[in-house]
Amino acid sequence: MSEWWRDAAIYQVYVRSFADGDGDGTGDLAGVRSRLPYLAELGIDAIWFNPWYPSPMDDGGYDVSDFRDIEPVFGTLAEAEKLIQEAHNLGIRIIIDIVPNHCSDEHPWFKAALAAGPGSVERERFWFRDGRGDGPPNNWQSRFGGSAWTQAPDGQWFLHLYSSRQPDLNWTNPAVHEEFADVLRFWFNRGVDGFRIDVADGLVKEPGLPDVTDPNGRLPYSDLDGVHEIYREWRRIADSYPDKRVFVGEMWLPDPQRFAMYLRQDELHSAFNFDFLSCPWDATRLRQVVDATLAAHAPVNAPATWVLSNHDVTRHVTRYGRADTSFSFADRQHQAPTSLELGTRRARAAALLTLALPGGAYIYQGEELGLPEVEDLPDELRQDPVFTRTKGTDIGRDGCRVPLPWSGDAPPYGFNTTGTPPWLPQPATWASSTVESQTGDPASMLELYRSALQLRRTEPGLGDGPLDWLPHQPNGVLAFTRDGAFACVVNLSDQPVDLPPHTEILLASGPLDGARLPRDTAVWLHQATTPSSS
Ligand code: GLC
Repeated sequence: MSEWWRDAAIYQVYVRSFADGDGDGTGDLAGVRSRLPYLAELGIDAIWFNPWYPSPMDDGGYDVSDFRDIEPVFGTLAEAEKLIQEAHNLGIRIIIDIVPNHCSDEHPWFKAALAAGPGSVERERFWFRDGRGDGPPNNWQSRFGGSAWTQAPDGQWFLHLYSSRQPDLNWTNPAVHEEFADVLRFWFNRGVDGFRIDVADGLVKEPGLPDVTDPNGRLPYSDLDGVHEIYREWRRIADSYPDKRVFVGEMWLPDPQRFAMYLRQDELHSAFNFDFLSCPWDATRLRQVVDATLAAHAPVNAPATWVLSNHDVTRHVTRYGRADTSFSFADRQHQAPTSLELGTRRARAAALLTLALPGGAYIYQGEELGLPEVEDLPDELRQDPVFTRTKGTDIGRDGCRVPLPWSGDAPPYGFNTTGTPPWLPQPATWASSTVESQTGDPASMLELYRSALQLRRTEPGLGDGPLDWLPHQPNGVLAFTRDGAFACVVNLSDQPVDLPPHTEILLASGPLDGARLPRDTAVWLHQATTPSSS
């Protein structure tokens, strides 16, 4: 049985911003279908779709009002079925987002809960509580800012770890378990190959909903032991299908050991590696993250994943050009100065690093075009509830969600053919970032990704398997082999370094300096095979 997910290159499609087939300014499934050949040519193995369900779009679709249909602005269920089939015909697998921690306030369950009133079975599917005095039932804070509780018209409060339009579901209620088991089957039966689980650590809350006493310690709504029982239940469902169906968990957890517990053989197949994403562009720190990741995954025999960007974080071209190259939600930087030239050089090197590490890799749409964060969106056009709930203290995530540029010299750059302005404006500077202008240019980011993804398929050492660090490297250099013959060398020091002995250069992220590797550059090599290079 193929364990395709162990080394898949998975491309993340944020549907709203990928391609607009019907020309209304918002991306849709027709747009995705028309661009499947592009994705096949890019060389990816699977697509992960951000939520495509009916939604009022308070949180970009993470506020789901019906888990068994498609958002009408995106298309229809019949179209999704066609898309799955067409992707499969091209050898591309499909992963969709499931959002089990909460739903939209427009979900029929929540509307029924509001109507039914205190003490009803309808309210038992959520977390309704009486307040403490005039205030909310406890001191929990929404991850989007402000209290995690909102008052219903009748005076009771309901819990929402995210926006007030995303009420948390109550996983102590068997009806919630049954509903999601059925939703998983609904989509598995339509051919989806896996699910990305939103806020996978958050479903179980500590009984009694106690106050948070230490905001930097264990939270009473994250990573409680009971959550593993849910994933055991889900794994049994996935395993009931004859071909391999998989789960990838979204957990931002500080403790690698606790993280790996989700990846035990009867739970999730994989999870996003946010330690790698958050890590600064620094050789020592990156090596520590790689080692810690591999060490945490090995005992549970789960493949690592490598992620540089997604729809929640500042695009890495922009991050890597700043003085502080790390990412953290707590101190999301506001327009900290960046050099896009430096950031792009590093992003190119980071692509080769990421795609050479053992396990699976995620590519966020537009990363293959080298898109930067769009930092100058007018405030009145920002749609992320993070921006409004924090009153702009956190600028939010719109800047990484700007629609993709495909062709032409001016917006909408082929995002649609009607010329309708996209739902977020694209920068005037993106003409040189389009797929059209990069195609065939050997120096472009797109061609670098195409070549790297191609080699990932043909180089036997790449993907799943061991990694051995090359000994005796200069400070600031990351160098490792995969199977002895293939080596990846990344120079994060501030000067050129000698390349290790090699028989062939397969790919470089930038021009070499004779036989030397310039700073912020990576190279893939063949070296003469040694029996053991560790
Ligand atoms: C996850 C998603 C994010 C969303 C949040 C609430 O972190 O990646 O986009 O806002 O969950 O569903």
